Amino acid sequence: MHFATLPLLFAATTLASPLHKQAYLVKRACTTGPDTATDFLAYPAYVNTASNATTPPGYANTYTNLHASSNADGYAGYTTLPTYNTTACAEKCTASKNCHAFNNFYERTAVSSSFNSSCTSTATIKCVFWNGAVTTANAVNTGSTQNNFEIVIAGSNGYVASAISPATGYSAPVYFSNSGIQAPLDCNGKDTYLGFQTFDANFDASRCAAACSAQAAYALTHLPSDGSTPKTCKFFNTYVESKNGVPQDQKCVLYSQTWSKGVATNTGYAYGKDVYAVGMSYGYSNATDAGVCVKA
Ligand SMILES: *[C@@H]1O[C@H](CO)[C@@H](O)[C@H](O)[C@H]1NC(C)=O
Ligand SMILES: *[C@@H]1O[C@H](CO)[C@@H](O)[C@H](O)[C@H]1NC(C)=O
Ligand SMILES: *[C@@H]1O[C@H](CO)[C@@H](O)[C@H](O)[C@H]1NC(C)=O
Ligand SMILES: *[C@@H]1O[C@H](CO)[C@@H](O)[C@H](O)[C@H]1NC(C)=O
Repeated sequence: MHFATLPLLFAATTLASPLHKQAYLVKRACTTGPDTATDFLAYPAYVNTASNATTPPGYANTYTNLHASSNADGYAGYTTLPTYNTTACAEKCTASKNCHAFNNFYERTAVSSSFNSSCTSTATIKCVFWNGAVTTANAVNTGSTQNNFEIVIAGSNGYVASAISPATGYSAPVYFSNSGIQAPLDCNGKDTYLGFQTFDANFDASRCAAACSAQAAYALTHLPSDGSTPKTCKFFNTYVESKNGVPQDQKCVLYSQTWSKGVATNTGYAYGKDVYAVGMSYGYSNATDAGVCVKA
């Protein structure tokens, strides 16, 4: 498989804008007024804080001020913070090995009635960490009712590491953990594999997106001489390949159809005494045409 020379795309980091006032970061006090779930969701300071939150360098903002937290792929733990602080969440995520996305939000939390009878709720400010991307599609956890107390979510913001952020025209990634795609033949018994490219271990999914789009453009301008439909890249699987535990490079493996987690079974191989392993594996589809196989 030959590719035209490809430009290396580096995801731009969004520069931080300063947070305005500390007052917007703090929790709602019991004395603020009525204390229902509806009041919690409508509390203006939560709206302002989330809406004005800084996008930390090295991350892309995927949603802002939702009333739901994400249920993404690959849970990587959570922490609570004294104040809403996307920079603090980002620092913790960056410092943790497989965290590539996080969700910062206010969660309505019951206050024991013996503690203060006029006060029924407070906020727990959470950063939840994920291996896979947090997206509006997986921001589905709107809370629950426990012992007649309504747990709700306010000011929920999502951030995804630029390294795994989808390039324009590609879907949010599906997380395959430590396995690469081992594609079977398609629904017509045809091979969908289009080759691979190798980059340095400075993981950046947008390099694969460029490779995939370049392959498709090349195939469309160099049509098969037998008149058959050209195979164009619609999906790529990218992962870090490690040798004996040391990251070696980033692989971009291109396919003409989208493959799902069910066929992500390639965990690596041994060669002599060396063990080559797959890590940080994600799949991305062409957002407008996922290359679904149509039976001929
Ligand atoms: C308990 O409620 C009273 C009356 O609303 C309020 O003044 C006080 O600050 C509350 N205490 C705490 C710890 O929230
Ligand atoms: C951002 O914060 C400012 C206060 O510093 C506030 O006036 C404004 O309404 C906030 N923006 C949004 C969209 O909430
Ligand atoms: C937010 O977190 C960052 C990093 O930990 C810290 O430097 C900053 O002071 C925090 N901001 C607030 C308002 O607490
Ligand atoms: C996605 O596929 C469509 C249809 O084949 C193509 O026109 C478009 O350029 C592709 N998008 C990207 C980002 O390559």
